Amino acid sequence: MIGVFDSGLGGLTVVKELLQVLPGYRIIYFGDTARTPYGTKSPQTVTRYALEDTRFLIEQGARIIVVACHTVSSTAMEVLRKTFPEVPFFEVVTPSMKKALSLTKNKKIGLIGTRTTVESGIYQRLFQEADPEVKLYANPSPLLVPLIEEGWLKKPETRRIVKKYLIPLKMRGIDTLILGCTHYPLIKKVIQEKAGKRIKLVDPSEEVARSVKELLESSPELKQGLEPNGEPEVYVSDITPNFEKVATMFLGRRLKLKKVDLEKTHCKQYE
Ligand code: DGL
Repeated sequence: MIGVFDSGLGGLTVVKELLQVLPGYRIIYFGDTARTPYGTKSPQTVTRYALEDTRFLIEQGARIIVVACHTVSSTAMEVLRKTFPEVPFFEVVTPSMKKALSLTKNKKIGLIGTRTTVESGIYQRLFQEADPEVKLYANPSPLLVPLIEEGWLKKPETRRIVKKYLIPLKMRGIDTLILGCTHYPLIKKVIQEKAGKRIKLVDPSEEVARSVKELLESSPELKQGLEPNGEPEVYVSDITPNFEKVATMFLGRRLKLKKVDLEKTHCKQYE
């Protein structure tokens, strides 16, 4: 079983891609809707939540974990990998960074994401290691997640805010833009329109799905242990009537959510 988690429902964009490139694998998703957003919280809190999310998925039988959240990918991977050394982890930052490097011609790359992701400085570090000539220009874009969760995907207000966030990056002459949040693929068309045709977009959901596929293709043992199945199982830590609507919008198909109280589950099992 492939375990996927996010702070909320945005990571379903990754599930959608996984279902496309790896049809038939059993996927279990956890969205921490009771504690979302993670993007405004401290790295310590995000790490604590990420440990609980991962533990839940492993207890349900997940053999590999896909961290479908840029905020967690930027802050918590070291602790996650140390705590669960036997589990292969995938995160969204490294494949997005590699894709941006392969696309850029002028080595000026833009990044939009939550505050925690941008302030983590992870992209600066990774680009510095990979190619010190790359200039990264980042702009935190905190208003986009609530607009997307509200379903305001094409509203004039959303277009105006996207435009505002992109202006400083365009002024720097970027030719590539990383969508540094798993919510953003939902407004990819608006972002592309406001960025202009000359700027290439890097979609984290496509990149991480591709890297999971590559691992499975090169590791038959791992592949054998992942039993095939149709519909993804989707758990959330809080449920409102609107979540079902939003989840269906993210995944692009009808979805029934199941509620799990992580705090209770873990109190019971770790007492
Ligand atoms: N999906 C989360 C991410 O990729 C954004 C939402 C949040 O702030 O929790 O960072």
